[in-house]
Amino acid sequence: MENIKNSIIKAYNFRHACKEFDSSKKISDDNFKFILETARLSPSSFGFEPWKFLVIQDISLREELKPLCWGAQGQLPTASHFLIILSRNINEMKYDSKYILNFMENVQKLPSDVIPIKNKFYKDFQENQFKLLESDRAIFDWACKQTYITLANMMTAAAQIGIDSCPMEGFDKDQVENLLINKGILDKNHFDVSCMVAFGYRKADPQFAKTRQSLDKIVEWI
Ligand SMILES: Cc1cc2nc3c(=O)[nH]c(=O)nc-3n(C[C@H](O)[C@H](O)[C@H](O)COP(=O)(O)O)c2cc1C
Repeated sequence: MENIKNSIIKAYNFRHACKEFDSSKKISDDNFKFILETARLSPSSFGFEPWKFLVIQDISLREELKPLCWGAQGQLPTASHFLIILSRNINEMKYDSKYILNFMENVQKLPSDVIPIKNKFYKDFQENQFKLLESDRAIFDWACKQTYITLANMMTAAAQIGIDSCPMEGFDKDQVENLLINKGILDKNHFDVSCMVAFGYRKADPQFAKTRQSLDKIVEWI
C-alpha cells in the first residue's frame, strides 16, 4: 500500500505544465491508448459522457492552430500527441435530445420502463436544480466541467507512466472553432471546444519548483 501511495504522489510531483516537449520522442500507441482509456472510463453526470477527443496529429493543422493558441506556442509544434477536447452542447445534452434518449437506450441499455424515470430526474435536475437550461452558456459550462475530469485523469495517468503533459485554455475559442468548422472537423450543432491538452516527453526539467499552498490553507474541517 505504501509503495502504491508513494508512486502516485511521485507522479503528481512529476506532472507539471510542460511548455516544450522533446519532439524526437513519440508516445507509443499502446501508452497513448492507455491514456485515452482513462478518459473513456471517467465519470460524468448521469453517465452521459458529454465529450469527444480530437487527436490532432496533422502538422499543418497544428501550424494553423498556433497563431490562435497563445498558451500552446511551445506545445503545438513539439507534442507527441495533441488533443482538443470537445464538449457536447445543448442540442446534445438537453434532457429531450436524441443523443440522451439514444444513450439511455443503446449505451446504458436501460430497461424501457426505467428510461422515463431517469429522464424525469434528469429534466428536473437540468431545469430546476442546476438551472442548466437558462442559457446555452450554462449548459456548455456544465458539460465542460465534466470534460475537465477526463483531462485530469489523462494527465495523472500519463504522469504515472512517465509521460508529460500540459492542459491548455490559452486560445481564442471562436477562432479555433471557426478553423475546425472550415476544415469540416467540428460540427457546432453537436460540439463546442472545451480545452486542449498536449502529451509527450519533456525537453528539459521544469524551470521552477512547484508552488502550492499548504493543506491547512485550503482545507477546512467542520
Ligand atoms: C484549466 C487550465 C488551463 C491552463 N492553460 C494553460 C495554457 O494555456 N498554457 C500553459 O502553458 N499552461 C496552462 N495551464 C497550466 C497552469 O499554468 C499550471 O498548471 C499551473 O501554473 C501550475 O503549475 P504545474 O501544473 O506545473 O504544477 C493551464 C492549467 C489549467 C488547469
